[in-house]
Parts: sequence; C-alpha cells; structure tokens
Amino acid sequence: MSRITSRAAGFERSKIRVMFELAEEQGGDLVRLEVGEPDFDTPEHIIDAAERAARDGKTHYTSGAGIPELRSAIAERMTDETGVSVDPERHVSVTTGAMESLFLALEAIAEPGDEVLIPTPAWPNYRNQVRLAEATPVEIPLSADDGFDLDPNRIIEHLNRDTAAVILTTPSNPTGQVYDEDAVKAVVEAAEKHDVFVIADEVYARLTDGDHRRVAAYTDYPEGLLTVDSCSKTYAMTGWRLGWLVGPEDVIEAVTNLGESTTACPSSVGQHAALAALTGPQDPVREMRTAFVERRDYLVNRVEEVPNISCPRPDGAFYAFLDVNELDGNSEDVARRLLSEYGVVTAPGSGFGDAGEGFVRLSFANSMERIELGLDRLEEMVEDERN
Ligand SMILES: Cc1ncc(COP(=O)(O)O)c(C=O)c1O
Repeated sequence: MSRITSRAAGFERSKIRVMFELAEEQGGDLVRLEVGEPDFDTPEHIIDAAERAARDGKTHYTSGAGIPELRSAIAERMTDETGVSVDPERHVSVTTGAMESLFLALEAIAEPGDEVLIPTPAWPNYRNQVRLAEATPVEIPLSADDGFDLDPNRIIEHLNRDTAAVILTTPSNPTGQVYDEDAVKAVVEAAEKHDVFVIADEVYARLTDGDHRRVAAYTDYPEGLLTVDSCSKTYAMTGWRLGWLVGPEDVIEAVTNLGESTTACPSSVGQHAALAALTGPQDPVREMRTAFVERRDYLVNRVEEVPNISCPRPDGAFYAFLDVNELDGNSEDVARRLLSEYGVVTAPGSGFGDAGEGFVRLSFANSMERIELGLDRLEEMVEDERN
C-alpha cells in the first residue's frame, strides 16, 4: 500500500518547472526566458518599510485577514480603480500571495464534484488547485485562430448546475492578452444567471500597455465576483508572498477562517512591505511597465522578421506566446531542442492546457541584451531547421 495519497501522488508537475530543472541540470550560458517573475528588484522604499517594521517589533502574528491599514489600502486602491465601494473589514482578506487567495477561494466555493471552468491556455496551477478542492477543472480551449480571444459562448455553453466558478485571467498568463470587455461582461452576466462565481485573477492588471480596466469596473456582480491580486508582479515582490482577495462578505469570511488553519496569517513584515508598496510612490511600477513595453515591442518586431514563427503583440504581463506550429515536433520538443541545442529556456505551450499546443511561452522579464541574444539563437534554430 502506498503511504502517499493519490491526491499527492497524482499531482501534476508544471512543465515550466520541468524546463527550469532541465536548464539547471544543463547549465552553461543559457538565456532564461521561462521565468514568470519580474527581473527587477523590489523597490528600495518597500524594503526600508519592511526593515523598519521588523525593527519596530512588527514580527508577531497578525489578524488572519491582515493588518487593518493594509486592508484599508487595498480597499481604497480597488475603489479608486473600479469605482466600486469596498469595505476593508468585510470585503478584503490578505493572503500568502495570490496563490493562497485562489486556493482558499476554491476551497470556500467549490464542493467536491463541482466544476470550475478554465478558459485555456491558462496558468497550470488552477487545474491542480481545483483538484485539491476535489472539484473538476473543465478546460475550455480558446481558439488560436482568434488569438485566444475570450469567446463567451464557449464558456456559457459549459455553465450548468454543477458549475461553481469560472476563472478569468486578464491580462492572461501565458498569452499576455487583455480580454475584450464585452466578452468578459457576457460571461459575468451568464455566471450571475446561473449563480456561479467569477474569479478574476488580475495579478498582471497594472502591467499593461495602455488602459486596462479591472473586471469589477465594468461589471455589476459584487455578490459573485472574486478579485485576486498581489504585490508579486506589480512591485517585483514574488518572494514576499503577499496577495489578497476582494469579494463578498461570506466568501471573505470563509477564506479568512480557512486561512486560520493553514497559515494563521500572511507574513507580518511582508504586510508592512505591501502597505508601503500600495501607498508609496508608484514610479517603480511605471518604470517597469515602460521597460516591459519596450522589450515586448522589440521581441514582437523581431519575431515578425523570422519565417515560420509568429506571435501577436500581447497587451500586458510580460509574456509572448509564440506560434511554433511550423517547426518540427510538438511544443515540448521545440522547447527542449531550443534548450539543449541553442541554450534558450522557454515554457512549452502544452503546459498551459491542450489549447496551448503548438506554442511556446517566452517571458521578457529579462534584460534587453539577453532577450536579443535569445532571439538571435531562436532565429538560428529556425534557419537551421529550414535548411
Ligand atoms: C495568472 C497568475 N496568477 C497567480 C500567480 C501567483 O501569484 P503570487 O506570486 O501572488 O502567488 C501567478 C504567478 O505566476 C500567475 O501567473
């Protein structure tokens, strides 16, 4: 008899992680374009605030939902950005990264056997988290021909009495696409009719080119909309593990109660860092966004010049989803070849669901010089394989 549960043993490994480990094993001069985090350091004033908090003895457990000042800052930010009134005490729970928000939200709203709809290609952790809640992830492939646009009808036709939630990630990981507002609205309206939650994962919401409105800003479903966000991508704070959930009171209360038995509370020092991030100067975010836009344009323009590969210009995040259908083998073959023969690390599209097959994700959270070198090598591979 196995000592390990089927739940743990059946856990699906991320193909991004697999590429990471292959790269580590291989070593040498690799161009790392598989990473899902900003290459920038956490801004100084945020680190200073965390240090001050630690020195001032803010090193104890906090309230499970987070320190009041941070919940207020999150509520204020959300209201500023959406026009929706958010009560820090009833509608906000601070968590250990967006990941814990997603995990606990699913634990709170999905019964065993329920379905959670995930338009794909999508971030692979959703699938595992839904399974951990003993619910069923239902992947809804979006069409590559439409640039993976959100097609509301595809989602709506899957809504049924077993559906607990729909997860919408906008801007998307891995495509970087911001979903069309009318399409999102149609999904939210249908979800409301079916009494289904909508989880809006907006961890990349502030890393967009141009205006991006949060889902809460243009929909009217406060009792069913759960907004997930964090400091990770916006403030280059992935390692601080600070995120939050904004949603209706009963869900927030359930999530906070569940958190009590898992992490007790998010890191106290991290919460003070998050407070400084949200209330302090926002120039570092603007600077990072400008750098990402510049790199994106360079990458997309270069790819346009290379035969047999293509990619749409992503609206946000720091990913480009490259169409490699014309190259030999599937996306994993292409990613492995790129790594072993050309020293470029990418994430195979199939790691984001079947809909991502034929694509590889390139992260441009790397310096312009490395991106340039990565594209030189990619171009070399395409050239070699044409001959
Ligand atoms: C779409 C998406 N949601 C959530 C997360 C996790 O964010 P956090 O670091 O805040 O847990 C990631 C990280 O890659 C992501 O890409």
